[in-house]
Amino acid sequence: MNQADLDITRLPRHVAIIMDGNGRWAKARGLTRARGHEAGARSVRLATEGCRELGGIESLTLYAFSTENWRRSKTEVNTLFRLLSKHINLELDNLHKEGIRVVIMGRREGLGARVLSDIDRCMEKTRNNTAMTLNIAINYGGRTEIVDACRAIAAEAVAGKLAVDSIDEATIAERLYVPQTRDLDLLIRTSGEMRLSNFMLWQASYAEIVVSPVLWPDFGKAELHRTIVEYQQRVRRFGGR
Ligand code: IPE
Ligand code: IPE
Ligand code: MG
Repeated sequence: MNQADLDITRLPRHVAIIMDGNGRWAKARGLTRARGHEAGARSVRLATEGCRELGGIESLTLYAFSTENWRRSKTEVNTLFRLLSKHINLELDNLHKEGIRVVIMGRREGLGARVLSDIDRCMEKTRNNTAMTLNIAINYGGRTEIVDACRAIAAEAVAGKLAVDSIDEATIAERLYVPQTRDLDLLIRTSGEMRLSNFMLWQASYAEIVVSPVLWPDFGKAELHRTIVEYQQRVRRFGGR
């Protein structure tokens, strides 16, 4: 399999990645989990560049920290947020130069002041870029996202601004964290795990799921291309014949 198999006229418009396997990558090398997360940051750059270079991918969404990841040790959580801030700052100029708009997706409550100011600066600086959107899911949970949308809808209904009979799929979609986000076309999960882990439950409704056996720190452009080729071999039916 090589890039020649990839049909650039039929690219998924929205790709998302559940970046998994940093811990196992580190364990296999006798390293700390922190080192695994550090190594994973390199793959974030490769995946972003890889999607941007293909041209037709409108959005890439990366799952960086779930609402369930707070269950990890305080040390690991601190490491993850330290790395997030560090890499947002390191990559910001380059992302901006590449015309990438960065959007952070998740609940703000619970995040530290430092991370919040870093992500706000990043979003503000890149907000008018149009080459590709990079959504980074931080403190993100698919169920929490739907709960928050329901709260917004209920508040509008109680205030008399929304008729209950008018609530439809668009009403919900418009109140998700990033309302303009298209449904997922291709959902990649690395490290061989075959589960959603509370990721984009609404938007993944008709996503094609490709599980890569590669651990996230080893994921590069070649494996990205392979997953896209696998996606292109699928027949998407959307419930039709
Ligand atoms: C993914 O790697 C990073 C995050 C979930 C933040 P893991 O830390 O889950 O790695 P494994 O699954 O333990 O190998
Ligand atoms: C999913 O990976 C969350 C992220 C990649 C941020 P996890 O490693 O947390 O998922 P589980 O625990 O294996 O389901
Ligand atoms: Mg994991």
